[in-house]
Parts: sequence; structure tokens; C-alpha cells
Amino acid sequence: MRGLLEGEVHVCRLNLASTPDDLAGQCWPLLDGEEQGRAKRIRHWETRRNFAMVRSALRFLLGRYLSRDPRSIQFVQGEKGKPRLAGTEPDRGLVFNVSHSGECGLIALARDTALGADVERWRDMANQEGIAERCFSVGELAYWRALPLERKQQAFFSLWCFKEAFAKATGEGITLGLESCIVDLSAQPRLVSIPNQCGSPDAWRLVGIIAGKGHSGGICYRGDERKLHLVDDEELVNSLFSFSN
Ligand SMILES: CC(C)(COP(=O)(O)OP(=O)(O)OC[C@H]1O[C@@H](n2cnc3c(N)ncnc32)[C@H](O)[C@@H]1OP(=O)(O)O)[C@@H](O)C(=O)NCCC(=O)NCCS
Repeated sequence: MRGLLEGEVHVCRLNLASTPDDLAGQCWPLLDGEEQGRAKRIRHWETRRNFAMVRSALRFLLGRYLSRDPRSIQFVQGEKGKPRLAGTEPDRGLVFNVSHSGECGLIALARDTALGADVERWRDMANQEGIAERCFSVGELAYWRALPLERKQQAFFSLWCFKEAFAKATGEGITLGLESCIVDLSAQPRLVSIPNQCGSPDAWRLVGIIAGKGHSGGICYRGDERKLHLVDDEELVNSLFSFSN
């Protein structure tokens, strides 16, 4: 795996469902005591698997980029819960964000920017119209409502993903007020309006990520356009195996 350059964003998509069962077990030693404890407390097996797999893959990737034992990497959390490298880590310019939903895990990494990632499994929602009315702007709602039926599910979750990727890039998460982050999907996805404290929408980039069947994915980062590099998940899985053996 090559290094992470200044003008790049690296994205790793993990097909969590196709992961051999015993790999989840083999990843366990990569987690520290706090993470293992947290995983054990998650009752829902899919959520537990997703957390353990994505966190261990994140440790593995960071270990590669930092030339370090993945188990020794230390994280701290921002005020609203966004994890980042601890201040004691020498390469603090390295930033990351992760997301997991359904069968897909998403890890984005870059240098010296604000970075957010989100993946959402398409799912039927009893009150999708109501959620759209609450979370989408007038323009987003009009765009979404005018779409043919077969494109509505994908567009709903793409809008959701981009709003959330932006909110995660800022570190504020849902407290930012997703209805105030307005996305234009009509051409190249872009932010058209964001809360004042986040600066100009033109200062942020949105990139759609193909995240597997029935999922939408997206990342958001601040600054000029960067080159997207996809980290092959098979290579990651194989490496995880060989690390643990
Ligand atoms: C945590 C939050 C940022 C995302 O939660 P989520 O969508 O349930 O979960 P995701 O899998 O996408 O992301 C979770 C990861 O984000 C990271 N994270 C946690 N808090 C974060 C924050 N404030 N900012 C950025 N990243 C954060 C963590 O790494 C976490 O994963 P981990 O604990 O396994 O390491 C949450 O605050 C949020 O915004 N939820 C929004 C849900 C919603 O209703 N969206 C409607 C959109 S229209």
C-alpha cells in the first residue's frame, strides 16, 4: 500500500458481509481494551460486527501510513465525539473519518483538512416523506419529489449522506442541524448553503462514493479538489489476515 500524499483523499470501502466469519475474530486483537469493552456492550450483532471490523481496519490503515503497530495508535474524541489521533501522535496532520451502515464500511483519510464520510443502506422508511420534509430544504424537496420513482430511494440517501458527511467533517455531527446544510445534486454534487460559522459552501468539496448495491456513500472535505484513491479492500483483508497470523 502506498503512502498518503498531500493532495489526495484515500477511501477504503469494506464489504462487511462478505468478510469471512473468522476474520472478525482475528481483528479483535487489533482493538484496545476500551474498544473491546465497547464492542462487547453492543447488543445488536451487526452493529457490533460493523464497529469492530471498521475500527480494526482503521487501525490497520493508520498503522500502515504511520509505520506503526496498529495496536499502539491512540485516539482522542472531540467535544461532539469525533475521533482523531491523540496529541502524542507524531503525524497529527493525518485525519480520518469512518462510517458504517448495513453491509458497508467506509473509511476516508487525508492530510491537513476537515474530513467527513457517510454511508447509508437504502431502507424503507414508514415516514420517508415526513423525514424529507423535516431534513430537506424547499429546493432539495422539490428536486427529490420530481424524480421518477426508481431514482427516489438512491437520491434520498445520497442527500442524507452528503449532509451527514459535511456535518461529520465539521465535527459537529447531527447537532449542526442537517436542514441548514443544503446540497445540490443536479450536476456535480455541491453544497449551496451551510451554517455561517462553517464559512463559504464553495470552500467544501463533496464526492460520491460507490458503496455497493443498495447503499449510498459520500465524503466531504475542506479546500481544493483532491485526487481520490481507492484502497482495495481485498488487499486490506489479506493484510489483516497476515498481520494476525
Ligand atoms: C455520530 C454521528 C456523527 C453519525 O452517526 P451515524 O450516522 O449513526 O453513524 P456513522 O456510522 O455514519 O458514523 C459513526 C462514526 O462517526 C464518528 N463520529 C462520532 N461522532 C462524530 C462527530 N461528531 N463528527 C464526526 N464523526 C463522528 C465515529 O468514528 C463513529 O464511528 P465509531 O464510533 O465506530 O468509530 C451522529 O452525530 C449523527 O450525525 N447522526 C445523524 C443521524 C441522522 O438522523 N441523519 C439524518 C440525515 S438527513
